[in-house]
Amino acid sequence: MTVPDIIIAIDGYSSTGKSSFAKLMAKELGFLYLDSGALYRGVTLFAQEEKFISPSNEINPALEAALQGLDLWFASDNRTFIGERCIEKEIRTMEVSSQVSPIAAVPYVRRFVDAKLHELAGGGRVIMDGRDIGTTVFPNAEIKIFMTAAPEVRAQRRYDELVMKGENPVLEEVQENLRQRDYIDSHRETSPLSRASDAFILDNSNMTISEEVAWVKGLIKGKFNLYDD
Ligand code: DC
Repeated sequence: MTVPDIIIAIDGYSSTGKSSFAKLMAKELGFLYLDSGALYRGVTLFAQEEKFISPSNEINPALEAALQGLDLWFASDNRTFIGERCIEKEIRTMEVSSQVSPIAAVPYVRRFVDAKLHELAGGGRVIMDGRDIGTTVFPNAEIKIFMTAAPEVRAQRRYDELVMKGENPVLEEVQENLRQRDYIDSHRETSPLSRASDAFILDNSNMTISEEVAWVKGLIKGKFNLYDD
């Protein structure tokens, strides 16, 4: 199947498996994958290390000017970097997760990330995941998916992921972090998480990743009248 130069937007709640799915889909279609959450996480790590955010989530407005000098980028294997330093591991810790939502609620941070996504997306053939890709960042994306899954399924997935990475999480804390992030992400003033009216809902509580890929490929085929090669 030869897919045209389109943009695929995957939005949804935390830990619905958006990035694993989007990465696999990108590989299958030969598309570029962009993880917008990694950019918010990168800004959060930067803000923490440079003390622009306090433990009680107070954000120093000087962060806005400092972002102009922040060289945040993705390598071709999707790892996230600040300058020469790979920050892939650091941005996935609970420490970053616990402050990323307040950082992502700041309008100038959102403008910084949106501009970066537009710059990186170029002319299309890109699949992006996040919270507001189909509603705000690329409202004209040709294919929009809104991913969801039962909260207990999501918490367990996130917990397993952290264990795999060698962390020592507490399930209740993971559940609470997800609950808080869902709340802040859906209630913030600037581009809250919401389903675009033209997004297809994908509830993957009981689906395998290959079933998800087959489902979305079916959507693409239907939309563009494509056939298997
Ligand atoms: O997808 P993730 O869990 O890595 O995203 C981390 C945080 O970044 C998430 O809690 C909300 C925020 N985010 C956002 O506000 N908008 C996006 N497009 C992507 C992520």
